[in-house]
Amino acid sequence: MAKKSKLALMHRPRRLRRQPTRRALVAETVLRVDDLIAPLFVVEGKGRPEPIASMPGVNRFNLVDLVKECAELHALGVPAVALFPKLEVALKDAAGTQALNKNTLILRAVRAVKKALPTLTVITDVALDPYTNHGHDGVLTAKQDDVDNDRTVKILCRMAVLQAAAGVDFVAPSDMMDGRVGAIRQALDAAGYTSTGILAYSAKYNSAYYGPFRDAVGSAQAAGTRLLSKATYQMNPANRREALSEVALDESEGADIVMVKPAGPYLDIIREVRNASKKPLAAYQVSGEYAQIHAAARLGWLDLVRCRDESLLAIKRAGADMILTYFAKDVAKALAK
Ligand code: PBG
Repeated sequence: MAKKSKLALMHRPRRLRRQPTRRALVAETVLRVDDLIAPLFVVEGKGRPEPIASMPGVNRFNLVDLVKECAELHALGVPAVALFPKLEVALKDAAGTQALNKNTLILRAVRAVKKALPTLTVITDVALDPYTNHGHDGVLTAKQDDVDNDRTVKILCRMAVLQAAAGVDFVAPSDMMDGRVGAIRQALDAAGYTSTGILAYSAKYNSAYYGPFRDAVGSAQAAGTRLLSKATYQMNPANRREALSEVALDESEGADIVMVKPAGPYLDIIREVRNASKKPLAAYQVSGEYAQIHAAARLGWLDLVRCRDESLLAIKRAGADMILTYFAKDVAKALAK
């Protein structure tokens, strides 16, 4: 005889949540180590790893330590790393000249990592911000009031070819110049690098969440401000349809993988792009997303590990196939347990 206290419910969704094994059976999204790309910073010299104050647990590595870190990530099963150089301020100039130096830090880093770990996928940024003294991603116009699109694209093409020659697996234009993906594809092919892929930062927003990264590569230090406006090339955070048109352009220009950046505050964009595009989709959980979780955890306001895992699961659920995240190593270790 049914007890009076029971409601006559046909549907009780909680049945599927009763115990961990039931929850596991019906989990729709799973974060895998194969989804992770670890961004890493590299510096000149033989110094010890340099901590970055606004990114707890993230260091800039010298070349030897970089290779060691990559080996550890590879052993943990992380399939890819994205390398970013921090140049000494003295090497930066308005033209970003060092970006085209055949022996510049990032090229030596790629060679060293690929030599030691040929099966690790290595990705490098194509943009001038680590090399310019104004911190912009390209060279400025004659009037110095904007980034010069077409002159910048020509430089980016040469940069991409140098990176391909150094053995990188994917070049990742993060500059948001118009037409750069097509121009880079042509330049790579003309130089014979038909197997070098393009991971396009397709919908990259003009975000305040990049602040800690600008400390990490010293582009803030060079420019004298972390709040440098990149509004004439990076996308307006107000726009969603425009992301789809940027992705469509990059696809038509030959992007192998498209990306949305930042990730957490832009889950709607990730979902829109996932629905609209057949390309693999990357999302970049940027420095500020990482920093805010750490900061709140330090204050005792949030649980670091649970917020870390939830933030990444949400990005995956939104539709990302792969995630660039500064949590990559920690998550890989946790998944290995
Ligand atoms: C530069 C670049 C940026 C990031 C990756 N490549 C910063 C910027 O555009 O100012 C940001 C990454 C992060 O915040 O973690 N082209």
